[in-house]
Amino acid sequence: MSGMTNVELMPARLFLSSGDLVADRRFDFARDLQLKGDLAAAADLLMQAIEIAPRFASAWFTLGEIRERLGKRDAAIVAFRKARDTDPDDRHGASLRLMLLGAEELSDMPPAYVRALFDQYAPKFESALVDDLGYRGPALLFKAVLAARHAVRKAAFFKRAIDLGCGTGLAATAFAREVDHFIGIDLSPRMIEKARLTGLYAELEVADMLEGLRSKPDASADLVLAADAMVYVADLVPVLKQVWRVLVAGGLLAFTAETHDGDGVIIGEGLRYAHGAPYVCASVELAGMRLSQLEELSARNEDNTPVPGLVVVAAKV
Ligand SMILES: C[S@@+](CC[C@H](N)C(=O)[O-])C[C@H]1O[C@@H](n2cnc3c(N)ncnc32)[C@H](O)[C@@H]1O
Repeated sequence: MSGMTNVELMPARLFLSSGDLVADRRFDFARDLQLKGDLAAAADLLMQAIEIAPRFASAWFTLGEIRERLGKRDAAIVAFRKARDTDPDDRHGASLRLMLLGAEELSDMPPAYVRALFDQYAPKFESALVDDLGYRGPALLFKAVLAARHAVRKAAFFKRAIDLGCGTGLAATAFAREVDHFIGIDLSPRMIEKARLTGLYAELEVADMLEGLRSKPDASADLVLAADAMVYVADLVPVLKQVWRVLVAGGLLAFTAETHDGDGVIIGEGLRYAHGAPYVCASVELAGMRLSQLEELSARNEDNTPVPGLVVVAAKV
């Protein structure tokens, strides 16, 4: 699997029925034509489906994609906005397409989009990520955390750890011997089901990471991990502030990020956020933590090329 976006990672494409059989059938034909490369005819059929069912979010979203491929930027923006208006939870992630087209300011990912993406992705997540994309986020975090502990001559043993965006549990697998009590938090119920099967988590929660952290008492964790999860969070500061609150003094936060040469946060073609190194440093500082390590290391490949990444370790002082 090379050069794929999150949408292409999905085993099945998200489809929200219009509730009208004829409109749904027109949509199916349009998809066939789209896949065969006849984009103009597919767009015509989608317009017919939309005439029958004006609130057909999947049709609007697909029309947006086709118009974009046809180079019709303004018309694509109209369609993506309609897709979001007709499905306010935005399960297709139309707002991400609008951000990528430069039609809207960067904002957080719709939680329903992340949930739908990973619920569909869960059954083949590990093989796709580890085998096809050479995913190495948990191993990089493990090495970085050991080095950070070694530097302050402390044992790398943690009584309580929180795994943000725990997915199927790959980070807990990497840290299993070093952690007594693992708490996993993830937006996707299907990913959480997979994590449960590892038997490595004492607690698992289906929640947004910010909400999950907010529900934890002050100074209740020794380690917080986020492996390949901050790529779904635009503004790191609110999460890092909560991490600071739940960590004990001397506790560690370790996370991977995707990055770019500039400052600030951008959204990439893969529909994941990339955080500039200066932005990451400033966010860690704003949250009241001290940076222990910021290394340019890539957690995964795309097109067989490492995606520019950062491995970050910060301590609560
Ligand atoms: C690429 S997977 C990585 C999973 C795991 N940490 C690993 O290393 O294999 C990203 C995970 O983060 C979760 N996620 C994304 N945004 C989240 C958020 N705001 N709150 C909680 N989980 C989130 C997704 O549901 C998904 O399971």
